Amino acid sequence: MTVSQTLEFTPRSSYCGDVRSSHVGQEIILKGWVHRRRDHGGLVFIDLRDREGLMQVRINPDSLVNDTKIGIDVALNYTGDAKALVATLQGLDSEAFRLTAVTKGDVNLFPDNGTPRESGDYKARFLAQTAAPVTEADIKAQAAALAAKGLVVTETHLVSRTHQIRDEYVIAVRGLVMPRPEGATNPKMKTGEVELEAREVKILNTCPTLPFRINDENLKTAEELRLTYRYLDLRRPELQRNFLIRNKLYKATRDYLSDNGFIEFETPILGKPTPEGARDFLVPSRLNAGQHYALPQSPQLFKQILMVAGFDRYFQIARCFRDEDLRANRQPEFTQVDIEMSFVGVDDVIRNMEGLAAAMWKATLGIDVPTPFPRISYADAIRRFGSDKPDLRFGMELNDLTGVMKGRTEFSIFNQILNEGGAVVGIVHKGGADLYSNTALRLDGDFQKKVQRETGSKGAAFFRCQADGDLESSISKFFTEEVRREIAKSCGMEPGDILFMIADKKLRKACDMAGRLRLMIAKDHNLIDRTRLEFLWVVDFPLFEYNEDEKRFEPAHHPFTSPHPEDIERIESDPGSVRALAYDLALNGEEVAGGSIRIYRSDVQARIFKAIGINDEEARSKFGFLLDALQFGAPPHGGIAFGFDRCLMSILEVDSIRDVIAFPKTQQGTCLMTGAPGDVTEAQLRELHIRPVKKETKEKDGKPTA
Ligand code: AMO
Repeated sequence: MTVSQTLEFTPRSSYCGDVRSSHVGQEIILKGWVHRRRDHGGLVFIDLRDREGLMQVRINPDSLVNDTKIGIDVALNYTGDAKALVATLQGLDSEAFRLTAVTKGDVNLFPDNGTPRESGDYKARFLAQTAAPVTEADIKAQAAALAAKGLVVTETHLVSRTHQIRDEYVIAVRGLVMPRPEGATNPKMKTGEVELEAREVKILNTCPTLPFRINDENLKTAEELRLTYRYLDLRRPELQRNFLIRNKLYKATRDYLSDNGFIEFETPILGKPTPEGARDFLVPSRLNAGQHYALPQSPQLFKQILMVAGFDRYFQIARCFRDEDLRANRQPEFTQVDIEMSFVGVDDVIRNMEGLAAAMWKATLGIDVPTPFPRISYADAIRRFGSDKPDLRFGMELNDLTGVMKGRTEFSIFNQILNEGGAVVGIVHKGGADLYSNTALRLDGDFQKKVQRETGSKGAAFFRCQADGDLESSISKFFTEEVRREIAKSCGMEPGDILFMIADKKLRKACDMAGRLRLMIAKDHNLIDRTRLEFLWVVDFPLFEYNEDEKRFEPAHHPFTSPHPEDIERIESDPGSVRALAYDLALNGEEVAGGSIRIYRSDVQARIFKAIGINDEEARSKFGFLLDALQFGAPPHGGIAFGFDRCLMSILEVDSIRDVIAFPKTQQGTCLMTGAPGDVTEAQLRELHIRPVKKETKEKDGKPTA
């Protein structure tokens, strides 16, 4: 039987990870990577890996088909026999030197006994294995020995590297699915009940020693190295799983949206600057000297135009580009599920999107997410949680202590801030009184230093609640017992609790810092129930934000967001109080989606531009096409965009967005695998009408060096 020649062309009959007890007795072909090997005397065990998982392969010389030819090295086109293969497998770590000679004749020579055997009139190949390096003289001697046996040597190959099967070799195996013997099953493996008894093995490709092991348990490898060899990193079972689930998420998204009447579009990548408020990536135009395209920060304007064009329900799984500082949940290019709908209000968008979120979690995790999701106004979210994306997996709500303290404390820091119209905001760590040492709580203590780092505040004052219900700390003397007891009551404190307080001239800022402290404490003391999934709509965002540096109002979302109908009249008189018909979807403290109902009347749009200091000329030059379109019968419309990568981070419970993007950028925006961004030639720059800038020269001893 000579099937090895065709083995590599035979389709796989199963993925490794899919083999189950129900396959016992079947002959199957698996193809994949050698994940791990173990040599048990005469037996060799291989964990063969493909995208679906691992399968144990048992190679036993006795179960290999007698006379089966086993391809060992496709590059050399060598065909040896079963025993040679086993010898090869067993010589795991010994560096061997082999000589392969291709001969013409009607015999096939086997190295184990050297006896010629009849095997038809095809080319025979001879393998000589030597422990010592083979020299040219050895080759000649071998060739002469073959010639003496009447064989014509047509080619010789000297291979000075081992041919044994090692980790990450690519092999094909034909074998019989067998139940594992008693005591040898592995409940941790999906395929732990079965193993494949090899009948035929073919090495399809070899692999040198790896820069790191393909192993999830071994993640101490520097991320830099893993990103440089991203194709190896991606072979890790965890990352393989991430991308198989990413694929499910694409499908669930497309299925849900298409079933609900949304039409998929593609919009240009080369466009004009979009209004999301981050820095643009620019692309110089060769055909239009000095002009630039901007990569889209989102397809915002195109999707609105598609509503004007009458498509009614649009979606796109869109790549977006933003040149901003990168964080664990931010990449310069990321994916949005971008959506726009005509003739809708806030409730319609929210209802449809709850359906989408439920479909996403159902398809990937099989979870039934209860809908509708709760809603909270932006103002309440800030007041209660100090965040516009509150994490509801734990309590610890903020307490505004301004009222109970104002004019009633001698503590000068609070006194001064309160007298200037500022605020004091507190959070209670229930039962936490003994968890913080006095040293850590001192102004220069570890806890305070961390508070400063993570919240941006100067530190947090504290009170411990004693057995008698009174509050105690280094600042308790600045409060009367009556006030202390009122503070405790207003925060719902009980003996054993500790209260932390942060003051600032602005209530919003004090809430923000206390909100950060809330998260810090919850993380440090494991107060977050990680099994919970807490979706929350944050609605009624402010329409404008005041830019302190530039002393002007800016759009909080983007300038096409509709003001709340009840607040329209205050656009000019009190812009800071105008609410927007904007909504974000928060999930466990992350913003996973954001959108708004849009302005569809050009007169309202003109008022908004005016309020944010964009004059007619600028508005026309930036967004003239949209303003024109709005005039031609634009339907009322609104939409939203889901951060696709962020949804996936939550589904997969990973902390880094890099774990859900196949080829992510580093914190510095570089791709370590391809080396992007890279240098271009001066000629390329000239073609783009860009004058090459001489590379910066370093000053040395006051003189520039090259
Ligand atoms: P927004 O700017 O809120 O809205 O973006 C929508 C969602 O995209 C995700 N996101 C990001 N994910 C990864 N890396 C980034 N750098 C990044 N930036 C944003 C977030 C966010 O909620 N055009 C509007 C949507 C609309 O109004 O319809 C927009 O882009 O999860």
